[in-house]
Amino acid sequence: MTAPKYRELADMLVARFAHAPVGSSTPSERQLAEETGVSRMTARRAIDELVREGLLTREVGRGTFVARPAVSVPLQLTSFTEDMRARGYAPSSRLLHLGGIPATEQVAAVLRIPVGAEVVLLSRLRLADGMPMAIERSHLRADLFPGLDRYDFGSESLYRVLTEEYGVRFEAGEQVIRAGIVRDADADTLSIPHGDPVLELVRTSVSRGSVVEWTTSTYPASRFELSARIAPVTVQGSVPRSALRVRD
Ligand code: GLP
Repeated sequence: MTAPKYRELADMLVARFAHAPVGSSTPSERQLAEETGVSRMTARRAIDELVREGLLTREVGRGTFVARPAVSVPLQLTSFTEDMRARGYAPSSRLLHLGGIPATEQVAAVLRIPVGAEVVLLSRLRLADGMPMAIERSHLRADLFPGLDRYDFGSESLYRVLTEEYGVRFEAGEQVIRAGIVRDADADTLSIPHGDPVLELVRTSVSRGSVVEWTTSTYPASRFELSARIAPVTVQGSVPRSALRVRD
């Protein structure tokens, strides 16, 4: 069976704009119909299809443009470095802060340490191919990771340092995802408009029975989508571990 005409046209457009910069304008229905000899309806269907697939965006009164691809972040215990490399991007970071601070009540409760005990706060702007992708603020137990400030987190992967230099073996984790509005200072760092929506991923990860990391990652909502593997519940009566919770 051959593909319908509009699909052939859509595929032709995909090939033609595969390497075009984000935001390049694409032909209108009328231009496309004239250029290829198809009807305007077929041209419209091809464009509609690509807008639905997220490859093009349509702006009322302005035209159709090559869309910025949404980056998919898996819900697994992988690092930013691994996630971005797997998607063909070169990861990098800009160090915003690295230093010891006393644990607040909240930090102490999450990391299961006494209030006031020293924790390391590592804040980074994470980039992919030089484009700002997320701000990550990690709280780490200073007693388990002495000397973390020796590492250059402008280029290092935190998970590489923890596993290879400190013997961490990630065995479990929990990730809470919530929607929010970007803080003004973060908007400037991420180069997004003030008031834009963000996705916050809050992760705790466990190694050898201890919570070793509490990280909040703030992603511009316009650039990300989250994907999770889902599987049938196999054990009868068991309740899935993930849940939609009501925020306080
Ligand atoms: C992901 C996780 C964070 C983790 C980070 C480590 O983004 N959500 O919780 O701290 O990866 O990334 P890397 O090893 O690249 O520094």
